[in-house]
Amino acid sequence: MFGAGYTVSVEFYDLLQGETDRRLAKRRFAEAASHARHGILDVGAGTGIVTETLLTASAAPIHAVEPAAPMRAALLSRLAGLGADQRARVTLHPESIERAGLEDVADLAVASNIIACLDPATRRSTWEAVSRALLPDGLLLFDPPPTELPTGREKVGRLGPVRVGPDIYGADITREPDAGFVRMVFTYHVERDGRVLRQQRETFELWPASAAEIGAELEAQGLQLVQAPHADLLAARRPAR
Ligand SMILES: C[S@@+](CC[C@H](N)C(=O)[O-])C[C@H]1O[C@@H](n2cnc3c(N)ncnc32)[C@H](O)[C@@H]1O
Repeated sequence: MFGAGYTVSVEFYDLLQGETDRRLAKRRFAEAASHARHGILDVGAGTGIVTETLLTASAAPIHAVEPAAPMRAALLSRLAGLGADQRARVTLHPESIERAGLEDVADLAVASNIIACLDPATRRSTWEAVSRALLPDGLLLFDPPPTELPTGREKVGRLGPVRVGPDIYGADITREPDAGFVRMVFTYHVERDGRVLRQQRETFELWPASAAEIGAELEAQGLQLVQAPHADLLAARRPAR
């Protein structure tokens, strides 16, 4: 998904997904963030919807890792709108988690809406990097990838409609199987008076993996699957020393 660059999606991301994703982030991560004392790692911070939830729920420093420049632009705009005291707690790492070189900085790591986007080799490197970044007894929370490929091309949903002045913004999402991955196609459209003003498309790859595969990969990096606080998340812990 990083390969896709987000050059198209970033324009529409918060408008079409912000409200739903903020509610989801609060439900999934706020409670765990409130217990973090040393630091929180936000892997693939994107436009900062989850980052802001973590900042609000916690008083700990936050390491926001975001390699895609278009997403960082949106993230920094979001941080610009926050108070200086909240902004002071964020360190922005403008590279992938594998390259950020973080060690023993966090008692909580959150990877929201990203693990599915990583090819298997990158996913394994990500676990290794997260394991290094976590303190002993630190917790990792993430939403798992799909477990299998779809059988054919199918519609999976719509984003919007959201009105901006006279215009209606929305997106259609489809997915189809490819060689070992799911191709997700986001088609964004802006309409006025029933007429399409513009239409733009961005494609992302999602990489399926079973819970057993994920568990084995985590274990190989010294992380143990533990009971997650929500049914739609997986959780892993770095054992206490
Ligand atoms: C779908 S977005 C999710 C953003 C945010 N976590 C959220 O839930 O709103 C996935 C993000 O992960 C970033 N990303 C992709 N590969 C990454 C990697 N190896 N390390 C860190 N971030 C990565 C992408 O650039 C993108 O901004």
